[in-house]
Amino acid sequence: MNITSTFVQASSSGGASLSLGQSFKLRNGVLIKNRLVKSALHESMGDKQGRPLDCLLPLYKAWAEGGIGLSITGNVMVDQRARSEPGNVVVEDERHLAFLKQWAEAGSRNGTALWMQINHPGKQAMIGLNKETVAPSAIPFKPELAPFFGKPREMTPAEIEDTIVRFGRTARIAKQAGFGGVQIHAAHGYLISQFLSPHHNRRSDKWGGSAENRRRFLMAVYRSMREAVGPDFPIGIKLNSADFQRGGFNEAESMDAVLAIAEAGIDMVEISGGTYEAPAMTGSEQTMKNSTRQREAYFMDFAEQVRQQTKVPLMVTGGFRSVAGMRDALASGSLDFIGLGRLMCMDAATPQRLLAGLDPQYAVSPRVSGIGYIDRSRMMEVIWYSHQLMRIAREGQARPNESVLKVALTYLVGNFLKGEFSMPKFRAS
Ligand SMILES: Cc1cc2nc3c(=O)[nH]c(=O)nc-3n(C[C@H](O)[C@H](O)[C@H](O)COP(=O)(O)O)c2cc1C
Repeated sequence: MNITSTFVQASSSGGASLSLGQSFKLRNGVLIKNRLVKSALHESMGDKQGRPLDCLLPLYKAWAEGGIGLSITGNVMVDQRARSEPGNVVVEDERHLAFLKQWAEAGSRNGTALWMQINHPGKQAMIGLNKETVAPSAIPFKPELAPFFGKPREMTPAEIEDTIVRFGRTARIAKQAGFGGVQIHAAHGYLISQFLSPHHNRRSDKWGGSAENRRRFLMAVYRSMREAVGPDFPIGIKLNSADFQRGGFNEAESMDAVLAIAEAGIDMVEISGGTYEAPAMTGSEQTMKNSTRQREAYFMDFAEQVRQQTKVPLMVTGGFRSVAGMRDALASGSLDFIGLGRLMCMDAATPQRLLAGLDPQYAVSPRVSGIGYIDRSRMMEVIWYSHQLMRIAREGQARPNESVLKVALTYLVGNFLKGEFSMPKFRAS
């Protein structure tokens, strides 16, 4: 595809002192070749047993060849009994090792750093996927989302300890397979984020109560992973600046969590925000301040505050759309890396073009199907954009104008036929 046909020249040069193409050396000497990072994007390319499928290979090759500096995989689950959505890859033992090696090789071409994002959904698991749903406490979702997620059971202390061990095991296998690093998914309302939140975590044992107790699970997960991979292997974290929920994890607690994990030795912090109940990560949460929602990078204010307190390498994801916006953010000194989500679903060569000073031509816009029941689940955005990842893998490019309704129906019927959903769970409430 002709670069100039899909991108338009950036309207302003933005800050000039630091370029998007400048490399960055992490504490342990690992070099990231430029400042552009593909943030984790759930690919929906695993089978019902969590086995990674071949289509991951052309997709990750396309991203690597497209010039991204660091490529972070979609969330890989640590427990087959706890998948968040159809198509999750699960790594709980070495059964997929041979394929993981191929995945690591494909995604690391062209000098790209490839990290595996590691996750457990807790209660944010689509209803019907798992036999039961567990969470720090048995707090149901708010009524409009309850039909999609179901009520969780409180985890036992033994289950908590087992999950911590699992995060370490998955990290070890990622390293063994040839991934260049791992990232803890502590954002967006999944299990670690649930432990951090005073709304979702009402435990009275050592895992709940004070902010320090609620952070204990995250710190234990980090230590388990660090022990498994050694001191020099990069471990990053994706963390919410806030949950954007009343009584939830807030900026002050997030700051304390950043400082604690930086002190423990984390190699990079990615800042995001929100949960499925309040989807600030995609800029669609109404409780976000208008000024926040409208600025190019949603979570820059918080990044600026973090920068004043710690030197930990920082990445911000959510809302970056233009070369000028990215250059300005980098030049401000408040972050080291630009996280890219939906732009990478529209065109795998986005980084190459941004590095050449060209703005993306395809606009990122909210995707709604028009069917109230589906749109209320807040999942259409992820479903449509991850459908484009399959297009890139199979056809070499996305279809920016593909009908949202068609994608929604393909998703529902496809997963029904695979036995992921049973009809009654998708009947309108
Ligand atoms: C299709 C899709 C899948 C996503 N999967 C993940 C994921 O697995 N893990 C994660 O941390 N965030 C995930 N996200 C959130 C993105 O990483 C990113 O935070 C969000 O899209 C905002 O960035 P953007 O404005 O550049 O798109 C996903 C987003 C989309 C659109």
